[in-house]
Amino acid sequence: MADEKTTEQKTADEKKATPSRRSILGWGGAGLALGAAAAGGTTAAVMRKDDASPAASAGDAVPFLGEHQAGIATAVQDRLHFASFDVTTTDRAALVKLLQEWTAAAARMTAGHEVGEGAIGDNDELPPDDTGEALGLKPSRLTLTFGVGPGLFEKDGKDRFGLKSRRPKALIDLPAFPGDNLDAARSGGDLCVQACADDPQVAVHAIRNLARIGMGRVAIRWSQLGFGKTSSTTPDAQTPRNMLGFKDGTRNIAGTETDRLDKYVWVGQKDGPDWMVGGSYLVARRIRMHIETWDRTSLKEQEDVFGRDKAEGAPQGMQRERDEPNLKAMKDTAHVRLAHPDSNHGVTILRRGYSFTDGTDGLGRLDAGLFFIAYQKDVRDGFVPLQTQLAAKDALNEYIQHVGSAVFAVPPGVRGKDDWWGKALFA
Ligand code: HEM
Repeated sequence: MADEKTTEQKTADEKKATPSRRSILGWGGAGLALGAAAAGGTTAAVMRKDDASPAASAGDAVPFLGEHQAGIATAVQDRLHFASFDVTTTDRAALVKLLQEWTAAAARMTAGHEVGEGAIGDNDELPPDDTGEALGLKPSRLTLTFGVGPGLFEKDGKDRFGLKSRRPKALIDLPAFPGDNLDAARSGGDLCVQACADDPQVAVHAIRNLARIGMGRVAIRWSQLGFGKTSSTTPDAQTPRNMLGFKDGTRNIAGTETDRLDKYVWVGQKDGPDWMVGGSYLVARRIRMHIETWDRTSLKEQEDVFGRDKAEGAPQGMQRERDEPNLKAMKDTAHVRLAHPDSNHGVTILRRGYSFTDGTDGLGRLDAGLFFIAYQKDVRDGFVPLQTQLAAKDALNEYIQHVGSAVFAVPPGVRGKDDWWGKALFA
């Protein structure tokens, strides 16, 4: 056909559409020394030869800059690599420098570019700045969402970085809930990065490179891989199913519902503190599922547990998935009845979790479940009242156990060339 392009032409077109490395770095400039400085040991590694990342296509890149961080209300990608970090340095300036380097590297990776001098640097005597496994891969809608945990403000009674007075009231230490069986090694953390992408390798590459840049200043405390998103912020898309086989994410806040996002998710001017305005609070829970028990449970019991039917996902007593739930048609202990805003004085959260399967547990059972992630304006008005209700009454408790837990304050988005993750907190 006359208008059909050759592969070479398409590649040339893609290259044209790809933002040049210099344009990406333009706002980062020398002020935002890239991770390369830490990883490769060269401070000259801020810029490199002109555009390089071969397959980066602007088409599937999610903008990094904005009023809010991407990865909250933006469309949910297929894969997750979530990492929680302990800050190991005691030096505030070193921590600030790390956050500047992380921001610059995150801006590059979300645009589909290599970190620093790239995976194949000019000097073969040095380890390359970028680890290389994302070479040739597209941006894959990679989003990197950054948060700070309670330990950054105070740890073991110490105000480590002079930030204690800046801790938001909404960033509470979560209370213990009945049934919790939390593993300390999979809980907490001073900093977090949620990497979501449509390609797992792109998400893993991002976390790996941030960890590498952070060497000597932060160490990964725990991390979690996730697949098969269990929520959606784009209701027009098909609702995904969780590991228990049910549609999950039907009644969630959509990315287009700006009023509800302002009401339930984003920290507003009057909520404060100032450095959090435009941000949100993240609760992560690693929830193990006893799937072998579930798989021996009758369909009727399974549907009663949720209060929705398995095939269509319709609320019990209704026909279609998106029909308004009639809570009275469900059992008192049904998950949906208990979690619904009408049963919780209007409490509403934005869910963004992923399924996980981390091999087996040595007893012939899959170590599988839901890595639950929720965003809200205030944890005290979101996850805490909801989980208090669910932990006490939810029929689902017979089939699940919360084994990991963390809470983070997620600052607003990076606004421009002089901004970096958490800048207003350290101001
Ligand atoms: C492994 C654990 C869990 C599973 C398998 C699960 C599954 C589900 C499913 C299938 C639905 C119905 C579809 C939907 O509206 O998305 C749902 C709804 C919901 N779940 Fe969960 N969930 C789990 C844990 C939690 C936790 C820990 C919370 C909060 C503390 C929570 C809060 C909600 C909320 C708010 C709704 C929507 C209720 C409504 O407005 O109708 N879920 N969940």
